[in-house]
Amino acid sequence: MIKNLYNRSFLTLKDYTKDEILFLIDLAIKLKSEKKSGIYKHRLKNKNIAMIFELTSTRTRCAASVACFDEGAHAEFLGKNEIQLGKKESLKDTARVLGRMFDAILFRGYKQETLVQLKEYSGIPVVNALTDDFHPTQMLADLMTIKEHFNKFKNIKLTYLGDGINNTTNSLLIGSAKIGMDITITSPKKYSPKKEILDYIKSINSESKIEITEDPYKAVKGADIIYTDVWISMGQEKDTKSKEKIELLKPYKVNKKIMDSTGKDSTIFLHCLPAAHDGKVHNMEVTDEVFESEKSFVFDQAENRLHTIKAILISIIGGKN
Ligand code: CP
Ligand code: NVA
Repeated sequence: MIKNLYNRSFLTLKDYTKDEILFLIDLAIKLKSEKKSGIYKHRLKNKNIAMIFELTSTRTRCAASVACFDEGAHAEFLGKNEIQLGKKESLKDTARVLGRMFDAILFRGYKQETLVQLKEYSGIPVVNALTDDFHPTQMLADLMTIKEHFNKFKNIKLTYLGDGINNTTNSLLIGSAKIGMDITITSPKKYSPKKEILDYIKSINSESKIEITEDPYKAVKGADIIYTDVWISMGQEKDTKSKEKIELLKPYKVNKKIMDSTGKDSTIFLHCLPAAHDGKVHNMEVTDEVFESEKSFVFDQAENRLHTIKAILISIIGGKN
């Protein structure tokens, strides 16, 4: 049992050690099993969680709400059009008010800096529910899904195809490097991972093999996991460069040929969702054939958002595990 998670924020996996990440994954696995057996221990009884969402969400919002309900807490949803923040009130003032009433804040928005300020001025733990830079709660669910499937991280290779500079990729790189899982990112040069993330990974002397390549077929060789994310992230929809980006990313679409090129029958497909896999408009990073195939574990991954967010909340503000 790791006790020093209490009262901590969860802003990026950079702040968490390998052992702490493993602890959260194992706790989430235990919580999943408890829920399946109808055991509810209300470890968040009398706690109140403020959920500020500047951006839309299905999984993260629902995971946090259900986690709170299951464990006896109250979750207050604060959509961007429903509170004074950004209109009649500054971040600093809103944070100070929330800090007086709540036990923790879950925030989804654009800037990582907003999280840092929320933490500073509220004085209570803050959880990153996605920013432009990172998506750490997603990563815990991804790692939990991988643990459930392979029961190890060492000598497991994850290959990510697509936009190499978004929140998911940054967090995948950090999470894999911390946990000792091998990771390859394949994307066009323009969307290749940021130097600052690669420098950070170098600085932690990771045991993982990290590879960056523009060649998707080279990248997927030997992969146990093929992972992709949307090509256009939230907030980029109106970007004038979107069309050009989509053209550049087309060779990185996950299709049957890519899945068959790993050289392993056991390769699985993961995606953080929402995915553009069907229909004429929503047909981008992965084909419907792969998405709906028996190799796809995306809905296990989505369910695990619940158990992992629950594990985080219990660890940072809850009672006994
Ligand atoms: N994966 C994920 O964060 O999904 P939502 O945007 O629906 O929360
Ligand atoms: N990169 C995606 C992740 C969605 C969960 C986005 O930011 O929209």
